Amino acid sequence: MLPQDFIYALKQANPIEGVMSSYVQLRRAGSLMKCLCPFHSEKTPSCVVYTDTQDQHFYCFGCHAGGDVITFIMQIEGLSYMDAVQMLAERAGMTVPRDAQGNREAERRTRLLELNRTAARFYYDQLRGQDKRGLVYLRDRALSPQIINKYGLGYAGDSGFSLCNAMIAKGFTEDELITANLCGRSQKSGRLYDRFRNRVIFPIFDLRGSVIAFGGRTVEKDGEPKYLNSSDTPVFKKGHNLFSMQFAKKSQSKRLILAEGYMDVIAIHQAGFENVVASLGTALTPDQCRLMRQYAEEVVISYDSDAAGQNATVKAINLLRAVGLRPRILHMHDAKDPDEFIKKFGPPAFRVLLEDADDAMTFELERCKTGTDTDTEDGKIAALQKAVAVLADIENDMQRDIYLSRVAHDYGVEKEILSAQVDAELRKRRGGAKKQAWRNVQNAAVTRDPVNPDAVSHRREAMAEETILCYLFRNPDMLEKVQETVPPEHFVTAFNKRVYTYLSEQLSKGYTYSLSLFGEDFTPQEIAYITRISVDLEQVEINDKTVSDCAEILNAYQADGKKAEDLDNTEFSAKFDALRRKRT
Ligand code: UTP
Ligand code: MN
Repeated sequence: MLPQDFIYALKQANPIEGVMSSYVQLRRAGSLMKCLCPFHSEKTPSCVVYTDTQDQHFYCFGCHAGGDVITFIMQIEGLSYMDAVQMLAERAGMTVPRDAQGNREAERRTRLLELNRTAARFYYDQLRGQDKRGLVYLRDRALSPQIINKYGLGYAGDSGFSLCNAMIAKGFTEDELITANLCGRSQKSGRLYDRFRNRVIFPIFDLRGSVIAFGGRTVEKDGEPKYLNSSDTPVFKKGHNLFSMQFAKKSQSKRLILAEGYMDVIAIHQAGFENVVASLGTALTPDQCRLMRQYAEEVVISYDSDAAGQNATVKAINLLRAVGLRPRILHMHDAKDPDEFIKKFGPPAFRVLLEDADDAMTFELERCKTGTDTDTEDGKIAALQKAVAVLADIENDMQRDIYLSRVAHDYGVEKEILSAQVDAELRKRRGGAKKQAWRNVQNAAVTRDPVNPDAVSHRREAMAEETILCYLFRNPDMLEKVQETVPPEHFVTAFNKRVYTYLSEQLSKGYTYSLSLFGEDFTPQEIAYITRISVDLEQVEINDKTVSDCAEILNAYQADGKKAEDLDNTEFSAKFDALRRKRT
């Protein structure tokens, strides 16, 4: 564990306000600061930053992300605890004290990267070996030798063991092969086997050029699955990386092209557009959008023209907008994906598509018409109703007015009438938003809980536990007294019990309380839960009497083994709501 003094100094040197403001726009709201939450998409700020407390933290009332500055960096950069600490240390010009464990972890990562590189080399050589099926496949898909080399493409043949054997011979361990997700272990024989067989191999590189993972496409007709991808490993988090970003980042343009898959990316790249990337075998994530934001201002979404591709486009538009990227949408015809389009019509035609890409608003307004026949009155009305909702989404008044005119003209209706409809929609939403915000607060305890699932059926006990925990956060010197009143076994919900036990251990070692006490052993989600405990009770006074009342609730539960809240749920809810109201 890192010395607490170091963590304290690290946090002093990295005030949360300064760090967060390189990712979001913070606005002051009284003694707090607020921003649009970077961890989910929203239009009104629900992420609150508590800057004037001793242990600075943030908490999002919308998606329940939260924690201190280290948790923030872990979440937003997709880093481990140690890497987040390292990044903050670099930011402040500090050096992280090295301990043995940190070194071992770093060594393990280096070994895995080395293994991946060696495996990529092995697949690369296989592609040029006796079994020509890989090379034939790639040639059939119109890839040139140059592009095959540039992407380091490879081939895994039919053997099923050749990679493991070759890697073991080079001194890698079975454990490393499994951790890297290159091999599996047979249940029956206990032997290792290669995960990739009869596939062309697409190595995935990070921005520094290390091989971090692989994708493999079957070369067999109807082979299943069509693409096989590495799962997450210590060196690869799929939602954090983009295929081909190592090339795309070099292109000078502030525009990226976003495609669905490996083959589309390579075909587009081969056609002369190197600023192309794809998300990796998953739907696009906010992290991937932030990565793009570092290099670009505009993203041309070039997904498949089928319904799935178009639905994914709608989602991508929102995610890209949420990080401040300008989405545009490529409108493809007579081809199902960019790969096929380029093959059929050639690179110059694709360039025309890129130049003609619609802005997102045009795309969304056009989409209102799909599935309805706008030549009929009913169809027109249905499409217009959808268009009203789209127009109401536009935040900028001037922009809204411009599109309003366009839609009015397009459908042949009076602009004033359409405008009144949009205004009505906006009024309806404002009312709804208020109600929803209040409902969120009321439901928070019940719905939030992948971290502490027990809390849903034990609201009253969880609340008592959290009150006790919060008392300890504020009065760590009262540990012994609290321990006498409430032994850890009396905690009912598993997660709170773990927090209590852990906190007791740390405090009795003489550590002072701060969120970073939990940093190394709790996940960001768990830390967010702990943050929420203090945020919820922020305005509530907790004294000895409160603690003994809470202890009583837990002791009573232990004594008769009943769920106390079943007895007087209404009374409990009322109290609970009263607590909440105090803080708003
Ligand atoms: P598509 O099925 O559209 O692939 O999946 P494609 O690129 O057109 O494939 P080809 O042209 O037939 O070779 C798009 C992306 O979705 C992921 C892959 O990343 C693929 O590139 N995918 C698809 C998988 O991860 N697994 C699958 O089984 C299929
Ligand atoms: Mn395809």
